[in-house]
Amino acid sequence: MSTGLERKNNLPVNLPARPATDLAATVLAVETSCDETAVAIVQGRQVLSSVVASQIEIHRQYGGVVPEVASREHVSAIGRAIAQSLTAANLTWDSIDAIATTCAPGLVGALMVGITAAKTLAMVHNKPFLGVHHLEGHIYAAYLSDDQLQPPFLCLLVSGGHTSLIHVRGPGEYDILGKTRDDAAGEAFDKVARLLDLGYPGGPEIDRLAQTGNPKAFPLPEGKISIPGGGFHPYDASFSGLKTAVLRLTEKLKAHQPERELPVADIAASFQATVVRALVKRAIACAQDYALDTIVVGGGVAANTGLRAGLQQAAAQNNLRVIFPPMKYCTDNAAMIACAAVAHFEKGDRSALTLGGQSKLSITDTQQLYLARS
Ligand code: KG4
Ligand code: ZN
Repeated sequence: MSTGLERKNNLPVNLPARPATDLAATVLAVETSCDETAVAIVQGRQVLSSVVASQIEIHRQYGGVVPEVASREHVSAIGRAIAQSLTAANLTWDSIDAIATTCAPGLVGALMVGITAAKTLAMVHNKPFLGVHHLEGHIYAAYLSDDQLQPPFLCLLVSGGHTSLIHVRGPGEYDILGKTRDDAAGEAFDKVARLLDLGYPGGPEIDRLAQTGNPKAFPLPEGKISIPGGGFHPYDASFSGLKTAVLRLTEKLKAHQPERELPVADIAASFQATVVRALVKRAIACAQDYALDTIVVGGGVAANTGLRAGLQQAAAQNNLRVIFPPMKYCTDNAAMIACAAVAHFEKGDRSALTLGGQSKLSITDTQQLYLARS
């Protein structure tokens, strides 16, 4: 029987066919790319279970994620998380159509824990295996809040490691239209939080403080990228200058008013308002220029209350639709990975059991994760 899948080597090609059915596919996915050990079961766009064992408390004492510690924690948490996801969904392995895992980008040691677990489950239970690009998962998180959402649309992807404007044409079909030239938005939140002594991860804490501060207290520079011949890049951003401006501001305040406490809420509000302004302006301009009527937001910074309010307002003023993921699926989780895997599975994509983990992989190369089809 021709499977349509190309055998690349002598290792087993995992290709059990799915029985014909009208029901959306049910995928169990694992996510271990950074500091959350997550397992979820999703049918179509419906989350049947989502388990997230966070390591944040462990890494907080170091002020950031320690890769080796993250890998060890994943090893000890993964088995229980898989069992919990099946129990919470009240399912047996018979109901699962495919097993997926994040395989790039991320901390390779951490990724390998999820990849090994998912491949083992796929082999033992004779299910197809799919590797998923982590950022594609963040894009698909919005599908969990809107069952009508379909490409094409513009995605404003704002995570801890990436900030981009992506033209989404379909599963695995992406064009990057804009990006940050230096720090990602989440990284800027984390770095500014650290210099204000707010701990890790900084985004949620800055968000909380900003709600009580004055966003106009301190004018801060919005990083712009010059283009040869004059003017500024309409979609690319820079956040490292903004971070340095916050550092200079705190130094100045400490030097001039050593007896007074730093006005952290006002600094947080001013910083957040500047990031939000930069992101909103670029996303709206990009959607209009490319005639895309929907903006989808993904990544941890999609949880930011300032960004949610600012983008909703600007989108409404410009007759654009904006879709945010449910709050709990903004930061890393496996439901978004399962949702992306459902789209690839239904498209016929399958990964080889030889697939490894990669620390870097552009979202435009996502389709490399799947076996070529004739
Ligand atoms: O997407 P994510 O969970 O992990 C990556 O794939 O990077 O994003 C984590 C990032 C961190 O930088 C964190 O500070 C930021 O998302 N973040 C926030 C908020 N919640 C999480 N940033 C701003 N406001 C928030 N409410
Ligand atoms: Zn992420």
